[in-house]
Amino acid sequence: MSIQFAGRDVFDRLNVTDRLKIDHLVSQTQPSEDELHPGSDVVCGLSQTPKSLPPRYFYDDRGSQLFEQICDLPEYYLTRTETAILQDCADQIARLTGACEIVELGSGNSTKTRILLDAYQQADYPLCYRPIDISAGILESSAQELLIDYPTLQVQGLVGTYELALQKLSATHLPKRMICFIGSTLGNLSPQACEEFLQQVTDALQPGEYFLLGIDLQKSKTQLEAAYNDRQGITADFNLNMLRHLNRRFDGNFDLTQFEHFAYYNDIQHQIEMHLRSLKSQTVHLKTLDLTVEFAQGETILSEISRKFDLTAIQHQLQTKTLDLLEVWTDPNQWFGLLLCQLRSPD
Ligand code: AVJ
Repeated sequence: MSIQFAGRDVFDRLNVTDRLKIDHLVSQTQPSEDELHPGSDVVCGLSQTPKSLPPRYFYDDRGSQLFEQICDLPEYYLTRTETAILQDCADQIARLTGACEIVELGSGNSTKTRILLDAYQQADYPLCYRPIDISAGILESSAQELLIDYPTLQVQGLVGTYELALQKLSATHLPKRMICFIGSTLGNLSPQACEEFLQQVTDALQPGEYFLLGIDLQKSKTQLEAAYNDRQGITADFNLNMLRHLNRRFDGNFDLTQFEHFAYYNDIQHQIEMHLRSLKSQTVHLKTLDLTVEFAQGETILSEISRKFDLTAIQHQLQTKTLDLLEVWTDPNQWFGLLLCQLRSPD
């Protein structure tokens, strides 16, 4: 059901507005670097050699829409495979966790979350969902669609970064909480950032609470490179859209016709590396950042890494963060893994 077709009356009858709360995160006490100096991460990434940009700049409203299109691409097996796993195990997850608040980091359009919500609804648990996303537009519209489709659901969305959201999670009135980080977004983090992120998850949980993690697993270079170089060129648009986003946000003059998408699998580091390659020697200005960047012909900006995991290694890493593994699910091809962990109680 799409929001455009829902009239006021439907909204009122279903109490959609009463069941929806969306907060925009800003830290009052200790403003983050990004709040004090918006775009300082852009300045930093573009001033380094080799150049890089933080993947979160993919996700303006247009980027989020392009990502949704990527999820449906024939080559992009990730979403399809994880969805199938979730469909198989959602009931088990609900049974293992009991009633709990579902916190989702990087909720996007919440399509996969519906599978979980269905299972918790089936089990007659109260439905409490906290989506966290950097894109306000997609957060709000998908929350409204969910509220129409789940008449008892309560949504408390947070617009902001994971880091801030994990610090700012207020107490849940349900017995427990489950933090979900699905879609292999963990793969975007460098090994060090991943380590820090897992610590933040641990810090945000009470002993006995849950962490649901979806990760893409190591596989052939051919299959991986196809998934990030789709034939329709949607991934290329998604990558280039980051420059369009930066132009708008920071009054920049990136010429999108003078950069190209480039992605390959680094099989030593086990990661896809996605770049934007300059087609000529050129100078780019970002006015509001007071930044001038020189590009040599062929020079690239690393816009994303997408790490591919080894199940045994990640399990071990979770253990060291006192996240005990309750169950692992995978697909018949072992392309994707879904892990349910529980924060260990101090003994
Ligand atoms: C959303 C981070 C999981 O790494 O596969 C898709 C993003 N980039 N195609 C991924 C993405 C290019 C995606 N994640």
